[in-house]
Amino acid sequence: MQKRVLSGIRTTGPLHIGHYFGALQNWLELQDNYDCYFLLADVQALTTHFDRAAEIEQSVREVVLDLLAVGIDPAKATIFIQSQIPELAELSMYFGMFTRLSELLQNPTIKDELKKQKDEYYGFIGYPVSQAADILLFSPLLTDDNVLLIPVGEDQAPHIQSTRKVARRFNEMYKPVFVLPEIMISDTPRLPGLDMEKMGKSAGNAIFLKDSPADIARKVNNAFTDPKKIRRNDPGNPYGCAIFQFYRAFGDNKLIIDVELGCKAGKIGCVQDKQRMTELVIEFLRPIQERRAFFEKRPDLVAEILNEGNKRAKVSAQGIMDKVRDAMHINYNFLKE
Ligand code: TRP
Repeated sequence: MQKRVLSGIRTTGPLHIGHYFGALQNWLELQDNYDCYFLLADVQALTTHFDRAAEIEQSVREVVLDLLAVGIDPAKATIFIQSQIPELAELSMYFGMFTRLSELLQNPTIKDELKKQKDEYYGFIGYPVSQAADILLFSPLLTDDNVLLIPVGEDQAPHIQSTRKVARRFNEMYKPVFVLPEIMISDTPRLPGLDMEKMGKSAGNAIFLKDSPADIARKVNNAFTDPKKIRRNDPGNPYGCAIFQFYRAFGDNKLIIDVELGCKAGKIGCVQDKQRMTELVIEFLRPIQERRAFFEKRPDLVAEILNEGNKRAKVSAQGIMDKVRDAMHINYNFLKE
């Protein structure tokens, strides 16, 4: 039985603690029990960053360092780079032939994002197609019990749905090749940003995994708390407070309850709360940053890890592409020597 996991992360800058609790924590568990493929989505990054292409290389480096820093282990998991597997572009081209534009335009995540953009680009609208390729290129053999799990955030659900549709259509129209992937949504609630909005790389509301203690202290101090709690002994509302959400991620159960009750009863003040949170975050990130420093000093080792990952990804890719070309009748026998 083959138990595969595939997930990806866009390389648009260093990763933050929202990524940790939303995805990486889950990946760390999965790498012990599944054959994991983690994709650095540098081509998908270009869908929004094509006019800043020169920045992507640095982002790829940042993201791989972050993955190694949190403990993704290249002996267990395959880390690879999207652009280095040209089969992904090839498969995505074929999938595009039987994907209706109307379906892409109805995809809720694409629809939402398009509202924020000035223009409608082909590459951007097509990215669920290329994401289907990202996923299905790593399909295990199609049998009754082989599985392909995709751990992602809720916003990715429409893409996994359309990937299943692509797989089903392909299997029915040509030949059964692909296992239908299954989405696996992390059950930890999304960690909000320091301003209670969605934590984002460029929203100015994130704590990055590589932030220095001074940056962490400054950011936590400026975080949004209950605006009605002015004095230490004013009773507060922890539920609208960014720091309390952080306690839910970083604290143990006893601490979470202490803070919740203490805040409501006006027994703890926000300043004290923030100081303790600063320490928790710094302590949490210390071993991660130590590992990051180890790999930062060894660029050759990091390059070797990626080259090896790309090689492994390519082996799987070539196996699937042989089947795809055969199923689609594009491995022309008359050309064979
Ligand atoms: N779209 C995903 C995101 O923005 C990243 C991604 C690219 C991905 N390819 C993937 C996720 C394949 C899962 C599977 O987070």
